[in-house]
Amino acid sequence: MDDERIVTNNEIRGDEFEESIRPELLKDYIGQKDVKENIDVYIKAAKMRDEPLDHVLLYGPPGLGKTTLAYIIANELGSNIKTASGPSIEKSGDLAAILSSLEPGDVLFIDEIHRMPSFVEEILYPAMEDFTLDIIVGAEGNSRNIRINLPPFTLVGATTRAGDLTSPLRDRFGIISKLQYYTNEELQEIVKRTSRVLGIEIDDEASFELASRSRGTPRIANRLFRRVRDFALVEGEGVIDLEITKKALGRLKVDEAGLDDTDHQLLRGIIEKFNGGPVGLESIASVIGEEATTIEDVYEPYLLQNGFLKRTPRGRVVTEKGYRQVNMTYQNSLFDLESSD
Ligand SMILES: Nc1ncnc2c1ncn2[C@@H]1O[C@H](COP(=O)(O)OP(=O)(O)O)[C@@H](O)[C@H]1O
Ligand SMILES: [Mg+2]
Repeated sequence: MDDERIVTNNEIRGDEFEESIRPELLKDYIGQKDVKENIDVYIKAAKMRDEPLDHVLLYGPPGLGKTTLAYIIANELGSNIKTASGPSIEKSGDLAAILSSLEPGDVLFIDEIHRMPSFVEEILYPAMEDFTLDIIVGAEGNSRNIRINLPPFTLVGATTRAGDLTSPLRDRFGIISKLQYYTNEELQEIVKRTSRVLGIEIDDEASFELASRSRGTPRIANRLFRRVRDFALVEGEGVIDLEITKKALGRLKVDEAGLDDTDHQLLRGIIEKFNGGPVGLESIASVIGEEATTIEDVYEPYLLQNGFLKRTPRGRVVTEKGYRQVNMTYQNSLFDLESSD
């Protein structure tokens, strides 16, 4: 698989650190109870019937474990996994090449599947439905359609934006699972697991503190763990305790609610420049110098879910809780009086 269209493992799997702590079996995948239980049943049933697992769509914010779960699914099936990412498949031929390289029972993982061009996407429909690939051969004027049979395979698609998927594509997934933000307890388990895998001790208070400041996201918990570990190594006694954790997180500018610098800039920006909102996504983007889609996919979901920000028909509004989080005085605007019900 040295085809450039099939992206490098690093793009999909994350860096070496992330890869080294990625759980490989369903039993080590913490949280996401419903998703996990269902997928467990579907995998067992597929194996009993000796059929490929139905196509799986995983969606949810970045860092919640989509890629990890895709690899786990392949492991649990005892299958090989081939990976590609939506934006890297530019031409129909790119996808045709990937599809024709599949072996029976393979898992094909397409990350960021919503970013695949629509004319490429159409090639996927018969491939997903009937395991066939329609290609055009010959020169113009003398071309004909030929149909190639593909081996049975399972497509696992991952996306941060299920809403951006066309409905014909979405409808072809038999299993659609939404990953949720993790509870502090689940994140604490993840942090403890990481500490065991890396052989670095962290006490209970410290692991809980770290967990509760990780925005419900395993990737963030693991990244913070890595930084806190550095502080413990240089300044502490080796075992990561609450004191060193708080100190490190303070230096990293992660507040008690897990909000970081960008979150603060975002909330403050809306308050200072737009009087707390309502304000459109594009305006927020220009204030903090991030792409609108990044704000929508990465920053906003957590702020919305935790009530720092709310979405109204006229735009985003910072809530009273949001004002408090950035130490600013809340002004009860006319808008809020109107909309409080
Ligand atoms: N349920 C989980 N249990 C343990 N670790 C997890 C879990 N989900 C994610 N992780 C860790 O978080 C990191 C990011 O997960 P990843 O699958 O790359 O997220 P996504 O693909 O959704 O952006 C990985 O390094 C993985 O080790
Ligand atoms: Mg991923």
